Formats: sequence, C-alpha cells, structure tokens
Amino acid sequence: MTHASLANTWTPHSWQQKRTLQQPTYRDAAALSGVVTALSKLPPLVVSWEVDALRERLAAAGRGEAFILQGGDCAESLDACSSDRIVSQLKILLQMSLVLTHGLRRPVVRVGRIAGQYAKPRSADTETRDGVTLPCYRGDIVNRPPFDAASREPDPELLLRGYERAALTLNFVRSLVDGGFTDLHHPEYWDLDFMKHSPKYEEYRRITDSLADSLTFFEHATGRAMADTQRIDFFASHEGLLLHYEQAQTRYIQRRGAWYNLATHLPWIGERTRGLQDGHIEYFRGIANPVAVKVGPTTDAAYLRDLCRILNPENIPGRLSLIHRLGAKNVEDKLPGLIHAIRDCGASVVWICDPMHGNTREGSTGHKTRSYDDVADEVLGFFQVHRSLGTVPGGIHVELTGDDVTECVGGTLGVTEDQVGDRYETACDPRLNRSQSLELAFDVADYLLDRTPS
Ligand code: PEP
Ligand code: CO
Repeated sequence: MTHASLANTWTPHSWQQKRTLQQPTYRDAAALSGVVTALSKLPPLVVSWEVDALRERLAAAGRGEAFILQGGDCAESLDACSSDRIVSQLKILLQMSLVLTHGLRRPVVRVGRIAGQYAKPRSADTETRDGVTLPCYRGDIVNRPPFDAASREPDPELLLRGYERAALTLNFVRSLVDGGFTDLHHPEYWDLDFMKHSPKYEEYRRITDSLADSLTFFEHATGRAMADTQRIDFFASHEGLLLHYEQAQTRYIQRRGAWYNLATHLPWIGERTRGLQDGHIEYFRGIANPVAVKVGPTTDAAYLRDLCRILNPENIPGRLSLIHRLGAKNVEDKLPGLIHAIRDCGASVVWICDPMHGNTREGSTGHKTRSYDDVADEVLGFFQVHRSLGTVPGGIHVELTGDDVTECVGGTLGVTEDQVGDRYETACDPRLNRSQSLELAFDVADYLLDRTPS
C-alpha cells in the first residue's frame, strides 16, 4: 500500500496532536521519551512480509476462502510469560482450528491475542478505596495492580519490560510452530481425554476420527505428508491502546514505501477509543498493517462509512476488519444493519464476531462472568445472519485459555454459578476454559455441518 494519499501531516507521533483516550499520565516526560527512543532502536518483533501475508489471509477470509480464529487472554501479565502458558494457549487454538476447519471446510488462520496484550482500557482514570484515590491499574505494561501509590504510578520502564516479554513469547511460539508441535500428527492435536466426561464426548470422537481418516486418505492419495504441503499460520495481535509503545515500533519500510507497526501483525482499536477525530484512529490510519476496530451495539451506518473512508481509503481487501461485540441478545437485530451499511458504501471489510464483550455480567459470587450459552448463541447468530444475507462470516475473536479455570459459567462440563471464584485467574475479563473453548469449536462445526448439504 502506498501512502501518497496520506495527508502530509501523518507521522508515527502525529496522534499526539489529537485527543487520545485511555493513556496513562507519565509524570517524568524525560524518562518516557528516553524509553520510547530506546524502544525504537530495538529490533522489530515481526517483519513486514509476515504482516503483508496476514493481510492476504484476511482478504481470503473476507472472500470466504479462509476463516480467522483470533483468541487468547483478555490481558497478558508479565509474570505469566511462561512455557506452560504459551504451550497451552497454542495448543487450544490449534485444537479449535482443526475442528473449525472440519466444520467450515476452509483453512483456519490462527491469530493469538498474545505477545503484547498488556494494556487495558478502564472505565475510570482513578480508583478510590477507603477515602484514598490512586490512578487505576491499566495493565502490566503501564503500572502494577497493588493498591498503593508506588505500584499505581505509571512507570515508563514497563514499556521495555513488556516489549521484552513479547519478544520472549514470540520466540517460543515460533520455535513451537517451526518444530513438530503444529504437525497434524502430533498427539497434542488429538488428545481430547479431558473432554471424556462430557455428554458429547462420543460425538467429539466421531469428528476427530473422521479428521484422522481424511488426513490418512490425503497422504496416501498424494504420497506426501500434510506437513510438507501446508505450513501452519500463526500470527500475533493485541489492542493497540498504549500509543507510545505502538509508535516506538513503527518503521518505514523503504522497499514497500510504507510505515509498518512491527510490534505485532494485527493491532486493533478497542470499543472505547475508536472516536474518528481521536488519537487512535490518527495513528492507525498511517500504518500499512491489517487493522481491526471493535464495534459495539451503538455503532451506526454513518460512523462505519467514515471509519472505512479514513482507515481504508483505497479499499484494500484484508486491510480492515470489524470485530463486532454486540451481545447474544442484539446480534440478530443489530448485525444486519451494520452489514447493510458496509454494503451500501461498497467498502471491503472482514467480519469478525467477538462473542465475549457484549455478554459480560456480574455473577452470584460477585465476579465478572459470562455464560457459555450466551457466547455460543452469539456466534451461531453471527453465522445465521451472514447465511441469510448471503455475506461472509470471516472469523471469531474469543477470550480463552488452555487452562481449566472457572471464570465463565456453563458448557457441558458445567462450571456452575457458585464455582466461578474457584479458579479465577484472569488478569481482566473472564475467559472460556479449555473444554469450553473446544466445545465452542465443536458447536460451530456441528451447526455448519448440519446445514451444509454434502
Ligand atoms: C478487550 O478486547 O479486552 C476489550 C476491552 O474489548 P472492547 O474494546 O471490545 O470492549
Ligand atoms: Co476483555
């Protein structure tokens, strides 16, 4: 993409001239600028050809030739940068993708909420306890959770710590992907023992047996191992919230004639920071990465038209994804309007359903929770709407973990309302656990296979 059309005024830091929401107040401007300079000299985490490859994959998803599975923690924490967590996140995304491929009959492109998902938008700038008011906790890349003044002071050094953890994470992910871990013959793919007590276990077995048969058939028929024919895709994404961090990793790639954010493949703008005149849109309009914007139930047609004009003026397929988070109750009502608005202005977008953020509620234990049924209903509603309009469901965006936590209620292995606090480990929003995540993939596959004439 050339950026000849960008107003001359865009630079990686031109967002600083705009109102920019959800940024911490750093007291020591010199320390911040020292860190941003240091960060901008470090080698990038990803490279421009990978970013371009993801744009192509997203474009394919927009045409119905691939499907995006984007998932991971709501918030990563610096301490949780461990081999176990990375393996378990990768493993659950792989297992889900295999099941989804079966139902959708399309390749699935895996995109982690990983290696940079360290900053969180908050509903208030400060938090008050017992008459003491301190800055709110904005994620491990900004400040620290304990409620004391030193912990809550935004610390620019954490930008470097976050960047280093992101690099360690991606380094390990790349080794796993390049090694045997993502080979379809790897036993991790097929290990569903943890689902054994689910009433649907037999059905799950049938699906995985049929997948194994197809794999053997393909290899016999072609005389080639599947692993030789298709390298697995795995990309990184995070909310591009903390713009000093994003700015520092924004590089001009001479050969491409464009600016790239090389801290991640796919940055997105959150629901709270997508104002058309604001700093986030300003920053995002100038980078060549594929970008996504979260849109909630109040989004209207005029906004979407302007958004597409600003973020994708050349209407490049795969450049812009809309991640809607409407809620199970709203999706069938609201999504058709969004789709019509995009159709009417002829814009090219990839439709991605986030069935998590419109379904958050307070549970009986006082924890934030979500019900598996609401999550599954919203995803099925998304497929139904696209089916009825003849448009393309491009992917799903899910907060999940490969661990057996009890943060969301329901699923066939049944986390009950009163179990919600038992293993509540999220650094922010409640995530689907391992069996709930896989069950979601099976439910989608089931739904699609039932309705696809064979
Ligand atoms: C998130 O993805 O964790 C998030 C904060 O989402 P949204 O911007 O859609 O509220
Ligand atoms: Co969240």
